[in-house]
Amino acid sequence: MTDTYAVFGNPIAHSKSPLIHGWFAEQTGQDMTYQALLAPEDDFQGQAEAFFAEGGQGANVTVPFKLDALVFADKLSPRARRAGAVNTLQKGQNTEIYGDNTDGIGLVRDLTDNLGLDLKGKRVLLVGAGGAARGAVEPLINAGVARLKIANRTPEKAQQLIKIFHGLQPEAELAAGNWDSLEGNQFDLIINATSASLSGNVPPLPRGLFAPGAVAYDMMYAARPTPFMSWAEDVGASEVSDGLGMLVEQAAEAFFLWRQVRPETTGILHRLRMLLQEEAHG
Ligand code: ATR
Repeated sequence: MTDTYAVFGNPIAHSKSPLIHGWFAEQTGQDMTYQALLAPEDDFQGQAEAFFAEGGQGANVTVPFKLDALVFADKLSPRARRAGAVNTLQKGQNTEIYGDNTDGIGLVRDLTDNLGLDLKGKRVLLVGAGGAARGAVEPLINAGVARLKIANRTPEKAQQLIKIFHGLQPEAELAAGNWDSLEGNQFDLIINATSASLSGNVPPLPRGLFAPGAVAYDMMYAARPTPFMSWAEDVGASEVSDGLGMLVEQAAEAFFLWRQVRPETTGILHRLRMLLQEEAHG
């Protein structure tokens, strides 16, 4: 029987996930469907319950439902619990629903496998302390970064965040603060995890943050460079990237969880990039 999967969000019409998972299924010969489902903002639970009751095997969850999905899941992976968000649901034995978070590992895979960065011993600045930033902390520490500083408009949120991850092995030097606290610091990698790009803004970071050879990464993606990417290029980043690869890699990790087959992502990422550019020019 064909297994059914879905992504829940609101809005969801522009989601690339059905396309990505469709390509994964085709490439790996999996008998499955994957559709985008619009859930009402106040009833994720009802929609998700109906989906699984009707035979759904697994789902991705995107904005604004990652917290609802955390509550909805019967069981959580340790990384989802620490990230405080669920982006992947899977029906287990006895119809129990398992919640996981593949966003952070998707980010790290994109950085290491697609962009070829070695994160070991690196000084990393994470800009933002919302859900997107929170999911990235544990995988970055696991990748062996030496220092992870979280800077946020509301510094208290950055401070709260690092408390959750103290004591993880391996240990990284963790720090938190506001924009001013960054003066005089240098980083090998700066990741924008704020939603500022959505409104065309860039957090007011001081100049001089990029060490020689440093990389700037925006978790957002677009056909054209995001405002953060343009800013980073202007102030000395050696390389800039958007988050399209993270989108593909988090999907690949969810697909692997569901199907126990790991899709090849390089060609898919390339295909998606071309499509995005065609859409922008069409
Ligand atoms: P997400 O799940 O996408 O991370 P979120 O949890 O609402 O969304 O978090 C948004 C993040 O972007 C926060 O770090 C927010 O800063 P505050 O904690 O101070 O609100 C940050 N953010 C949003 N707009 C911003 C802007 N214009 N400048 C700087 N930071 C911004």
